[in-house]
Amino acid sequence: MKAPDMSRARVLVVGDVMLDRYWFGDASRISPEAPVPVVLVQREEARPGGAANVARNCAALGASTQLLSVVGEDEAGAQLLELVQAEGVRTSFHRDPSIRTTVKLRVVARQQQLVRVDFETSPSREVLASKLADFQQALPECDVVILSDYGKGGLAHISSMISLANAAGKRVLVDPKGDDYSRYAGATIVTPNRAELLEVVGTWKDEADLERRAQALRTELGLEALLLTRSDEGMTLFRAQGALHVKAEEREVYDVSGAGDTVIAALGVMLAVGVGFEEGVKIANRAAGIVVGKLGTAVATREELFGH
Ligand SMILES: Nc1ncnc2c1ncn2[C@@H]1O[C@H](COP(=O)(O)OP(=O)(O)OP(=O)(O)O)[C@@H](O)[C@H]1O
Ligand SMILES: [Mg+2]
Repeated sequence: MKAPDMSRARVLVVGDVMLDRYWFGDASRISPEAPVPVVLVQREEARPGGAANVARNCAALGASTQLLSVVGEDEAGAQLLELVQAEGVRTSFHRDPSIRTTVKLRVVARQQQLVRVDFETSPSREVLASKLADFQQALPECDVVILSDYGKGGLAHISSMISLANAAGKRVLVDPKGDDYSRYAGATIVTPNRAELLEVVGTWKDEADLERRAQALRTELGLEALLLTRSDEGMTLFRAQGALHVKAEEREVYDVSGAGDTVIAALGVMLAVGVGFEEGVKIANRAAGIVVGKLGTAVATREELFGH
């Protein structure tokens, strides 16, 4: 398939960013202090996570990408900034001295995760309100907006952002979290996974029941579309015209983390260059199939996706 000219796409990504850290080492003895292993760290790795992973996925497809977020004035925030900039993402980060950058640290020994240590604090509403001005300023220069909600509090003003984007005629894609979807009313499309949709519409007993519940939610929120990502079952797009199901790509799966980020990034880039929903969803599904075959939160490139 011929690739659309993705370098024309201008994507604005806003949301909760985080740093995924990995410490790899040997655990050959038990601590004298407590019955826990002692890990001698030999190698470290760090990758952008959350909205930062969405942004790097957009950039990997060739889109001109801007990322708006709040991080701490700490070493992790500096590393995150450096990592996403190295991948071609333009950043507009607010460095807030009163918070810690969200970090998920995994300690891994002999291919096994021993513990995950999380650091996070929500940015203050005042800081976030000041980001609304940055958002307004960035809007005219983008074709689509992606709001990546990881429930860390960075999108406290999401309803205002959706209204501003609508007023500017820009489409809005939302990756949701939590049980209050009224915050996403007026967006163009919301992309929950199975657990996220279940939390708001309850358990469905079959496909027909799922379609009724999904369509009711879509109508209630005034969305043009709702995309349910279904892990190894692929994804289903619900629109006024009906439902479209796309099967998952059959391939060897290494690591599914971040597949949802790739889906919303690829779909956003496609909508930005004028590709329709149906085609865009098929391409996003292929992109997700590529990243689940890679280790860690990964990206799919234009070459991998279109072969040229
Ligand atoms: N095991 C799998 N085999 C093939 N494709 C998969 C598999 N898991 C995920 N995918 C692809 O990735 C897409 C998104 O996966 P999923 O529904 O798990 O999103 P998610 O839970 O938001 O992911 P994450 O939160 O880890 O980013 C699926 O719609 C599918 O295209
Ligand atoms: Mg997800």
